Amino acid sequence: MLSKKLEEALNAQINAEFWSAYLYLSMAADMSDKGLAGASNWFNVQFKEEQDHALKIFNYILSRDGKVKLTPINEVATSWDSLLKAFEETLKHEKEVTAMINDLYELAIAEKDYATQSMLKWFIDEQVEEEDNAKTLIDKLKLIGDNGYGLYELDKELAARVYTPIATTAE
Ligand code: FEO
Repeated sequence: MLSKKLEEALNAQINAEFWSAYLYLSMAADMSDKGLAGASNWFNVQFKEEQDHALKIFNYILSRDGKVKLTPINEVATSWDSLLKAFEETLKHEKEVTAMINDLYELAIAEKDYATQSMLKWFIDEQVEEEDNAKTLIDKLKLIGDNGYGLYELDKELAARVYTPIATTAE
């Protein structure tokens, strides 16, 4: 059985993952408005991945006989000054998610819950990738500066991102 404390913290993480999904879907809409179809695709894929993250924890709670509690998702912003600003916010947000995952892991250690520690390892690795992706794109956008052709080329690169479903069942 999950401890009540861990159950609550895992439910809070489900909410945070759905909030992330909301954030990236809103960025997808704004990038589409700005004529950046490739960037819109990139954030759309990110939106789907975040839903998978939420479902992974959802299914894990159920597999441990815990109670899932879905809570309201807070509002997100609707526009960003530029693609660079959107990726800077992405990186800032992902760093916050990393801190949440680390706190969850520490709690699982304190509660001597080895199964939850094992499940969270996937998220620890995923966060390294999430932060690295955002950092790489920020670096590229800084190199591009206000070169329109550079942005056009990067947008084509972002159009190639494909959604690959993440295993959301408890492993
Ligand atoms: Fe679910 Fe982007 O971390």
